[in-house]
Amino acid sequence: MEQNHETFKVMEKEKREHLKSNILIKMLLPIYRYVAGLKQRRKYRLMTKQMRMIDPAESKRPKYWKKCGVDTTGNFKVGYGVYFDAGNANHIHIEDGVWIASQCLFLCHRRVLDNYTVGDDYNSLPYKIEDIHLRRGCCIGMRSVVMPGVTIGEGAIIGVGSLVTKDIPPYSVAVGQPAKVVKVFPNQSK
Ligand SMILES: CC(C)(COP(=O)(O)OP(=O)(O)OC[C@H]1O[C@@H](n2cnc3c(N)ncnc32)[C@H](O)[C@@H]1OP(=O)(O)O)[C@@H](O)C(=O)NCCC(=O)NCCS
Repeated sequence: MEQNHETFKVMEKEKREHLKSNILIKMLLPIYRYVAGLKQRRKYRLMTKQMRMIDPAESKRPKYWKKCGVDTTGNFKVGYGVYFDAGNANHIHIEDGVWIASQCLFLCHRRVLDNYTVGDDYNSLPYKIEDIHLRRGCCIGMRSVVMPGVTIGEGAIIGVGSLVTKDIPPYSVAVGQPAKVVKVFPNQSK
């Protein structure tokens, strides 16, 4: 009888403790959710702020690029959603009158694959950083990608969606992946 009473008391105590922890969880959960939400909202605000900085109003884009370290006088045009190698911005040189259409990508770094062999870790390979030159008045078509070390000649035109891996001569049209020269413009006849 005495033993039954003791067991009952222990069970009651366990029940009370379980209830207590349940109440605690119920109280803490909304606080946790609120704090987590705050964090999420803060992250979202930061992301949208960053996005606005990456893609500011059209008139401000060249100034923003210059501020990021791109070597330019700022006298060029950029469409929306253009990405450049932000960490190596000083390796991008843009002359006056250049036209960069929307959603292009400029890459200045890549891994050195010279000593890469089976079993090696790609992520531990060293980087090679090369300059990109966009000469006076050239035009980079929408959604093109310009690879490290490429010079796009004065007045050259790159077709929509091209992947430029090699230098493009002045006053020519280059298209495709990889981009090939399909046209070279003549000199003005006097
Ligand atoms: C490249 C471009 C300038 C070609 O203009 P074009 O000198 O009038 O040349 P054509 O249209 O006669 O095309 C020449 C050849 O290249 C091909 N071509 C044109 N654009 C191409 C492209 N983006 N990718 C692959 N091939 C392309 C054509 O099919 C044609 O091939 P063919 O000789 O076998 O028939 C033009 O197509 C282009 O892409 N302009 C960029 C537009 C742009 O980005 N605008 C955004 C804001 S300004």
